[in-house]
Amino acid sequence: MNATTHPLPPLAHWPYPRWIAHRGAGKLAPENTLAAFRLGASHGYRMFECDVKLSQDGVPFLLHDDTLQRTTNARARLGEGHSALGGDHPWGLLAQLDAGSWHSRAYAGEPLPTLDAVAAFCLRNHLFLNLELKPSPGTERHTGEVVARHVARLWQDEAVAPLLSSFDVEALEGARHAHAELPRGLLLESLWNGWLEAARALDCVAIICHHALWDSHSVAQAQAGGFRTLSYTVNDADEAQRLLDLGTDGLITDRVDAFSPD
Ligand code: G3P
Ligand code: MG
Repeated sequence: MNATTHPLPPLAHWPYPRWIAHRGAGKLAPENTLAAFRLGASHGYRMFECDVKLSQDGVPFLLHDDTLQRTTNARARLGEGHSALGGDHPWGLLAQLDAGSWHSRAYAGEPLPTLDAVAAFCLRNHLFLNLELKPSPGTERHTGEVVARHVARLWQDEAVAPLLSSFDVEALEGARHAHAELPRGLLLESLWNGWLEAARALDCVAIICHHALWDSHSVAQAQAGGFRTLSYTVNDADEAQRLLDLGTDGLITDRVDAFSPD
């Protein structure tokens, strides 16, 4: 296979909006909650990035960190001596946690959302999703498989499925194994050796880089491979313009209050 071939045809029509709200609404609301999605949507955003992992009993839910400490009241609720890992607890317990008070009093009581709840909100409001697979340690492939199965079921009647992305190659392999037809994106915080080949081997449609990694050379490499080019997390107007001038396809931002999505 030479450098310009691609195992899947690139999406002839890129169906996703250019601007994507990071974790729902960046830092303006508690990340990865439905309250954040509502706020992002109120700023005109039609696509949302969020982080998904599995509860102990296999329920996909939103949480960025491996542990519950930063963004929930787990320590107070569960007490010392309980595991801080989100993936160590059944959904029935996770559902009782407060994932809003850490942010501000206005969001006290906001729950952790399941992927099913996020899907209901997005489908009802015709919103697009970028689901970042954030597996708990040791569950990488399984997380990709389970999330892909849920997505295939939840979006079965829709023309456009969520973009599944991950820094974790095993998670993307799991997603591909379960539902190869779902679009995948490889997340990169550096351009490690073999990044293009890895994206190709995973049948990805997109490369999602830390924004500073994109320049005319890396964009040309990705585009020649047939990949769409997206960036995280773009919060500066000059940097956003640089990325748009480079011809990249998507910008994930915290600043839903600063950038008007088009
Ligand atoms: O998916 C893009 C971005 O969210 C990756 O970094 O740590 O914010 O999940 P992080
Ligand atoms: Mg993320």
